[in-house]
Amino acid sequence: MMNAGNTNDATSGFPTRSNDTASRTYCRELTAAPLPPCTIVIFGASGDLTARKLIPALFNLFCNGGLPERLAIVGAARSPLDDLEFREKMKIAVQPSSDRQWDDFAAHLHYRRINYESADRFEALRPALLEIDQLHRTGGNRIFYLATPPSLYPVAATMIGETGLAAQNQNHNGWTRIVIEKPFGSNLTTAMELDATLHKYFNELQIFRIDHYLAKETVQNILMLRFANAIFEPLWNRNYIDYVGIIAAEKLGVEHRAGFYEQTGVLRDMFQNHMQQLLAMTAMEAPSIFEAARVRDEKVKVFRSLKPFDRGNAVDNLILGQYQAGNIDGEPVVGYRDEPGVRSDSTTPTFAMMRVFVDNWRWRQVPFYMVSGKRLPRKETKIIIQFKEVPHSMFSRLMDDRIDANRLTLGIYPEEEITLTFQTKTPGPAICLQPASLVFRYQQLANTPTLDAYEKVLLDCMVGDQTLFWRQDSVEECWRYLNPVLAECETCEKLAGDPHPYAAGTWGPLAAQKWLRLLVS
Ligand code: BG6
Repeated sequence: MMNAGNTNDATSGFPTRSNDTASRTYCRELTAAPLPPCTIVIFGASGDLTARKLIPALFNLFCNGGLPERLAIVGAARSPLDDLEFREKMKIAVQPSSDRQWDDFAAHLHYRRINYESADRFEALRPALLEIDQLHRTGGNRIFYLATPPSLYPVAATMIGETGLAAQNQNHNGWTRIVIEKPFGSNLTTAMELDATLHKYFNELQIFRIDHYLAKETVQNILMLRFANAIFEPLWNRNYIDYVGIIAAEKLGVEHRAGFYEQTGVLRDMFQNHMQQLLAMTAMEAPSIFEAARVRDEKVKVFRSLKPFDRGNAVDNLILGQYQAGNIDGEPVVGYRDEPGVRSDSTTPTFAMMRVFVDNWRWRQVPFYMVSGKRLPRKETKIIIQFKEVPHSMFSRLMDDRIDANRLTLGIYPEEEITLTFQTKTPGPAICLQPASLVFRYQQLANTPTLDAYEKVLLDCMVGDQTLFWRQDSVEECWRYLNPVLAECETCEKLAGDPHPYAAGTWGPLAAQKWLRLLVS
């Protein structure tokens, strides 16, 4: 199908291009069949994630005709609310522009109070769900979305399992799936324990481990760019690439999440998951078929190839920082240790820069610089592929011996764009070189509404497509890699006792500047 643009001209024998190639798009419909009916049960429904992300995503899908007609959404949490109060609370969070659309949507919303300490109360959820299933004719298909604090994942999964709600095809004919969001444990051991609890009641095909970065259109596009075009792959290796940069800079501070962030810090919050996924998408080999298991097989091979962190040379490969008071957009902001809920002597890093190597044939000795931090000057997420310089400059008599090398930048936020920089002749009589760029803006192609990351993961979960979700072997490989790094941070006085300070609104600690100069302009 990909060669459809080439046809053979019978008279000349030369291949010619059919003139409709430019407008041809290659699509796989999201689902060949209509979306299956289902009930989505959201645990932690009185929390932030439900109001800020999940219900708005579901409402948007609903307004765009992207949800099954036979649908129920059940909020479950400890707060004493009834259906009407829950609907009202969600309406305030969503602020719909049309009351009619909201009312139609709200008819699918329900609320049931639960208590994780009392099996009885949890037990009551079972008949309540049966009743709701019947009301909305959802056929017993259920998604349990754990939007709770991670410490409750094992508790909620156990309750679901023990009350018989995890079982498929026993009391009803539908399917059952469970969705959890990172962090998956806080180290290798706890990640394995969590998985063992989940697997007591659910099999792997029922478990959807979310990384919302994977659901970003521009992140998915990395595979299309690499593997649906022939021009990049021949260059995508150690022979032509000098280094790779993966940057997820944030302007926001820790906000109201100190309780969580004090336990995680930037390494567990961003590196164990989002940053590693961006690395895998950039470094993986092409699977033979675009299908969940094959894609995930290739990713886990990247994680297995990560060169173990060299604790002997930790300072060359890891720089940690913590933001101090400073200015963001001209406004003064407090330092991390003065944020509400943060210990005044906290050594939690809010910035990290790691130099990582993928030890395989394709990538040997190519550094991957990974940077993420809070309270940096702007929010920016991107991947930089920095090519090597030309081997010899024939222009050396005209200019400096060095010619800036080509760079391909995959912009994820705020610019969803791909930029290729190259050298060109400055117009005019003089012979001068100047850098120029080819820019592709992803939004130029969007003639249908694009899906927000949560809309995408919810839809994939409904159709049972696990391509964009973590598989447990990858989770474990990433922890295996990160464990010694965490040990280094937590035991080495130089790193732990004193993450390098940086003023809020600047590009991280001074110690990181020599690398950052390569990545941030
Ligand atoms: C979350 C982290 O997973 O990702 C947050 O817990 C971080 O600390 C967020 O701010 C960044 O996501 P995005 O989509 O805004 O880049």
